[in-house]
Amino acid sequence: MSNTDENKLPHGEPEIDELTNDRYLGGHEYDGIRELDNKLPAWWLYLFYITIIFALVYLVGYHLAEWWPLQDDEYNNELAAAAVVEKKAPVEAFDFESMAPMVAEADLAAGKETYDKICVTCHGKAGEGLVGPNFTDMYWIHGDSTNNKISIKEMYNVVINGVIEKGMISYKDQLSPVQIQQVLSFIITLQGTNPPNAKAPQGRKYDTFG
Ligand code: HEC
Repeated sequence: MSNTDENKLPHGEPEIDELTNDRYLGGHEYDGIRELDNKLPAWWLYLFYITIIFALVYLVGYHLAEWWPLQDDEYNNELAAAAVVEKKAPVEAFDFESMAPMVAEADLAAGKETYDKICVTCHGKAGEGLVGPNFTDMYWIHGDSTNNKISIKEMYNVVINGVIEKGMISYKDQLSPVQIQQVLSFIITLQGTNPPNAKAPQGRKYDTFG
């Protein structure tokens, strides 16, 4: 740095270190020790300016003009977006304990579709039974014998767990709980239909059904 007027402090002294040619910082002298007013490196300065600009943009963008949402708003926005998605594809409400046979046409039709696709090979076109038992009589292998009751819940457990050793696989991974409820509801409508070629009764006779 050259020893020009601009390097002088207001009171007129040159205040330049003779060794390094750097200017002394005014008013910073303790016991004869003085501090040099070294130039900051350019990279440091630019970084500093960038942080200032960033802070300004941040302040205006988030707090004043509100171009972008703050964290709380962003969270709420995402929740709202998720709620819309959920509404479009509602999570199938399913409660095993209160499960009852469905009666709506659409459910029974969906159940029949599943039946015709999967169950028909072993349980027969009309539920008359083939490899698997007859669904049209009151005889069931897997009822709740303690309460003399066969309900959709006992049937559901068979479909979920399967009876591998007898050839009935588990459909837990293939069908959703509601799909199983639908196909079982359809099967229940076959009760007493007396189809031709009905397979002989298997299991025990249950009086209460449903
Ligand atoms: C590969 C043959 C096969 C297929 C396919 C099959 N089942 Fe079965 N199913 C059986 C057999 C065998 C049994 C008898 C199990 C036993 O003896 O414990 C059975 C038993 C059942 C029972 C219990 C009947 C009772 O008397 O307690 C239900 C309910 C049932 N199946 C539903 C279904 C449904 C619903 C489907 C289609 C999603 C299906 N099954 C597909 C072979 C099959």
